Amino acid sequence: MAVEQIKKVVVVGAGAMGHGIAQVCAMKGYEVGLIDISDEILQKAMDKIKWSLNKFAEKRRIKPEDVDVILGRITPSTSYEDVCKDADFAVEAAPEKIDLKKKIFAKLDETMPEHAILTTNTSSLSITEIGRATRRPEKVAGMHFFNPPQLMPLIEVIRGEDTNDETLNVVVELSKKLGKTPVVCRKDVRGFIVNRILMPIFGDAFWAYYKGEVKIEEVDSAIKYKAGLPMGIFELADYIGLDIIHDVGKVMYEAYGERASPCPLVEQMVKEGRLGQKAGRGFYDWSKGRPRIPFELLEEYDVNRTYAVAANEAAFLVQDDVADPKDIDTAMKLGTGWPSGPCEMADKIGLDVLLNKLKELHAKYNLELYRPCPLLEEYVSKGWTGKKAGRGFYQY
Ligand SMILES: NC(=O)c1ccc[n+]([C@@H]2O[C@H](COP(=O)([O-])OP(=O)(O)OC[C@H]3O[C@@H](n4cnc5c(N)ncnc54)[C@H](O)[C@@H]3O)[C@@H](O)[C@H]2O)c1
Repeated sequence: MAVEQIKKVVVVGAGAMGHGIAQVCAMKGYEVGLIDISDEILQKAMDKIKWSLNKFAEKRRIKPEDVDVILGRITPSTSYEDVCKDADFAVEAAPEKIDLKKKIFAKLDETMPEHAILTTNTSSLSITEIGRATRRPEKVAGMHFFNPPQLMPLIEVIRGEDTNDETLNVVVELSKKLGKTPVVCRKDVRGFIVNRILMPIFGDAFWAYYKGEVKIEEVDSAIKYKAGLPMGIFELADYIGLDIIHDVGKVMYEAYGERASPCPLVEQMVKEGRLGQKAGRGFYDWSKGRPRIPFELLEEYDVNRTYAVAANEAAFLVQDDVADPKDIDTAMKLGTGWPSGPCEMADKIGLDVLLNKLKELHAKYNLELYRPCPLLEEYVSKGWTGKKAGRGFYQY
């Protein structure tokens, strides 16, 4: 199938992600079938879409008269049969439960035309396993939007073990038609690209805090005002939600073992209900809004720790042929708002400097989190230490 053949998209799950994905598709002219389990949930989703479209109109990004036209392209329904029979493409955004997703995919497979491509917005589950719940695993891929889909420019496109080239290509092309930048994750690995880099960054900061070596505000001040990242690490953790980080942490531990061993602090906070922004408290008190990160503490934390674990994980992604440095950098810039990607930063700082930092941290904490990736060691031993040497992750 060519991307031009796609006229109608089905979105399954009208929650935080699904309603936004439906809106993005409708704004680009696609007819959309939006499925959820009750009319009440669907009505709430339609109200949210209307609210968001009005905001777009207020900001003059769409014409006021377009609001109703776009809304008119979306058909909410509790029946797969009604909206799937003439659809060409599906994005599933139901809760992160493997059995539920498999059931939904079996149902989509049964009700959608033979040519249709089925994708999942899962953050952590196996695309391959979900695809095998259908009779068309070659037409199943991951299409991982970022929150909120209406505003975030990145889509990670994930190739399952059975996904064929044509499917992958259509998902990439559709992502572009939706106005997004697709980055291909060539293997069905847990965490894909962005979460794979983010988790060790959280791990490093959490362990340092857990061991009483740093204060939350010190880390966040350095990350925000020295490294220039849009949010502090603890601030971002609160924003994402400690429950989500806990769940993703479990998946990563299962996939990568001791290297992804979660800091006990996370489970402790989840048990205490300190889930972050949505609970009013996490690492910070959110009851009066966004926390103020003090500027004056910016020298109190070594930001190279963060860059070292990020570069190390990037090296694992390159070594395992999951993604190229350029894609990793694009994903982190668009998915998390980093001003430069981890590979660009590593080349600038020096791979030798970051490798030494990892070795120092590994010796100090004896945590697998800091064990250097063999590829990083290889680059440094070849003299590929980054920009200054003319070769690092990139060639200069
Ligand atoms: N929230 C995020 O930041 C984020 C970001 C990227 C990816 N994701 C992934 O997107 C997916 C959805 O996450 P969310 O945050 O939107 O969840 P959510 O709980 O807000 O929404 C899920 C929706 O699915 C509906 N649902 C439940 N069972 C269903 C069924 N059988 N058929 C149809 N709909 C059903 C629920 O009623 C709910 O409206 C998950 O796989 C999650 O991992 C989430």
